[in-house]
Amino acid sequence: MNITILAIESSCDDTSAAVIANGIVLSNVIATQAVHQEYGGVVPELASRSHQQNIVPVVHKALTDAGVGTSDISAIAYTRGPGLLGSLLVGASFAKGFALAKKCKMIEVNHLHAHVLANFIQTPTEHAPKPQFPFLCLLVSGGHTQIIHVRDYHDMTIIGSTIDDAAGEAFDKCAKMLGFPYPGGPFVDDCAQGGNPHAFEFGKPQIKDFDYSFSGLKTSVLYFLRDKQKYDMHFIENNKEDICASVQHTIVEILMQKLVLASQKTGIKEIVIGGGVAANSGLRSAITRYGEIHNWITHIPPKKYTTDNAAMIAVAAYYKYLGKHFTEQNVSPKARYSLDEYFSHSS
Ligand code: KG4
Ligand code: ZN
Repeated sequence: MNITILAIESSCDDTSAAVIANGIVLSNVIATQAVHQEYGGVVPELASRSHQQNIVPVVHKALTDAGVGTSDISAIAYTRGPGLLGSLLVGASFAKGFALAKKCKMIEVNHLHAHVLANFIQTPTEHAPKPQFPFLCLLVSGGHTQIIHVRDYHDMTIIGSTIDDAAGEAFDKCAKMLGFPYPGGPFVDDCAQGGNPHAFEFGKPQIKDFDYSFSGLKTSVLYFLRDKQKYDMHFIENNKEDICASVQHTIVEILMQKLVLASQKTGIKEIVIGGGVAANSGLRSAITRYGEIHNWITHIPPKKYTTDNAAMIAVAAYYKYLGKHFTEQNVSPKARYSLDEYFSHSS
């Protein structure tokens, strides 16, 4: 059987389309919306409009890059949630129209499910070994920070999550205080390269079990900068690299502490990461470093598959196709969409 899926991702501010054929990703096109930079965060109304402008050319390019025509498509997949409703509606409506016109199957994908399964992306030139079940996934994005116990493609349980801000939000909010544009995570990462991660100490939260908290860090960085600037108005410019390195180090250590604990308590040593913050160089090297200490088998996806992309939606859809988990036309997008709810009806 030939399974060719066109996948759409439009949950936030990236419009992306990918084609997967028999489990191999043939194309992955991403249009990132620069319009939000000057506002210091994603403006939902502008995001929806940009998706409307981008979706047709992005899909066209994904099909062309893959060398696939619309009549070759067996199913169209789209992100149902979580995300910004107006943004999700663009991808979902496109998928519904396409499915009706081409009389093909439709597959809804949960964005978090896709971030986990990004570790299974294979292309004609990329074939990293796939993670073995069961594994633990540290899922760190702009909206989520979770440790997920993954037993199978469609069987996952969240065993830890943030009680307030996500790790990506902590990066972005600290970046904003330092004067970087949105999203600031990658700027902090770049700037941290030249800094001393031990230059400044920030407290780490004491939270139960495998849960996280990042709102305290944000506040302590805010007060720290305010106090330092009282005596030196150029404190940020003069110490930017050290501040970035120290903030990054603190976020990474907080993430790693709970991941180590989760691995020890569950006895699972197969460890993967996913989500935009998994592009962070400090986190990537910490996974490798801790992996050597704790005898983990680690999987770190290429950076382009950690931030939002449709290739991960395509892979999740491919495994759903194999399990015959198809979606009806009357299904609507969900701004809030937990993995528990998703798996309760789609597997
Ligand atoms: O997964 P993603 O692309 O979108 C969501 O689902 O939220 O994650 C975006 C988040 C943003 O907070 C962004 O600043 C962060 O990932 N991010 C990074 C890096 N690249 C992206 N954070 C730290 N270092 C990076 N290199
Ligand atoms: Zn994401």
